[in-house]
Amino acid sequence: MAEAVAELGPVQLLAAARRAHGAAFGGPAVLAAWAPGRVNLIGEHTDYNGGFVLPMALQLGTVLVGSPTQDGTISILTTSAEADEPHRVQFLAPRQGSPLSPGQPRWANYVKGVIQHYRDDGDLAAKALACQKAEHTFAGMPCGIMDQFISVLGKEGHALLIDCRSLETILVPLTDASLAVLITNSNVRHTLTGSEYPTRRRQCEEAVAALGKTSLRDATMAELEAARSRLGEEVYRRARHVIGEIARTAQAAQALQDRDYRTFGRLMVESHNSLRDDYEVSCPELDELVAAALEVDGVYGSRMTGGGFGGCTVTLLEAGAAERAQHHIQEKYSGGATFYLTKPSGGAKVLPL
Ligand code: GLA
Repeated sequence: MAEAVAELGPVQLLAAARRAHGAAFGGPAVLAAWAPGRVNLIGEHTDYNGGFVLPMALQLGTVLVGSPTQDGTISILTTSAEADEPHRVQFLAPRQGSPLSPGQPRWANYVKGVIQHYRDDGDLAAKALACQKAEHTFAGMPCGIMDQFISVLGKEGHALLIDCRSLETILVPLTDASLAVLITNSNVRHTLTGSEYPTRRRQCEEAVAALGKTSLRDATMAELEAARSRLGEEVYRRARHVIGEIARTAQAAQALQDRDYRTFGRLMVESHNSLRDDYEVSCPELDELVAAALEVDGVYGSRMTGGGFGGCTVTLLEAGAAERAQHHIQEKYSGGATFYLTKPSGGAKVLPL
């Protein structure tokens, strides 16, 4: 893997968080933890369909520090590169008979949800499922399990193939020095995201019911074709994406294992086209970034990554082409892009203080 660009890692973030804690609460933090962000290499909108995903944890992430309080209240303060001023909120700690509930400010809802649902039982899968529940019930986002799983189970030097039906995982090595993973942030986020994601989930459920299955993981392309006239055209195309993407992700994990980057890249492009045309979660900016990346010599493949309607693309390329690719993409892109060259990193952990 190519060297990563300098980004704030856990060490720098921890120092900043400890300073912010001291300034806001007048005493030192006594515990600290780190959780990485993720990029999904392939397997999009498959997690809530019982399919495969292939994400890796990043060196970019979130640090949390804290200290106990005695007065039955919880205060949360958040700082980020985007906000000039930290945001702060205070609420009563949950007690028996008076659980926390989501409200204003909205940014605190996910944290509140984790406080409400998380119980420290040492089981990483249970921890991820509790965080997913927080996202469903407090943040109002009916997400799958990919983000939480890779965040707790990420391993340095590896992508993680997650079977979202059995919750079994397989580590796939990704340490080849001749290879790079380039993340390109479109720096756009279309407001559609909120309403379109639940709509896609509902359409998948509709297809599952019409096919008489428990999930799209169990359906074949032949079964879908046979049922085409019974499904609306849109629901048919949504299901076609999911069934195809689940197969592509299994093939891609094998190709990565075999260091067959050409096949991996081809599957990435097929994934993007399917997300654009059948699942309709791409946007002109992401399409532009992918098209520009594919013009560069040494690029194996490129695709939108994550939920869609903005956000990032992920590009697999020869390490030697990384510089060239960034210049070319920036030159062709009508907006302003941000680039991250990153290595697969470890999962969430407690940081020593
Ligand atoms: C969002 C969700 C994930 C997953 C992706 C699409 O990131 O949080 O669970 O569904 O979209 O693959």
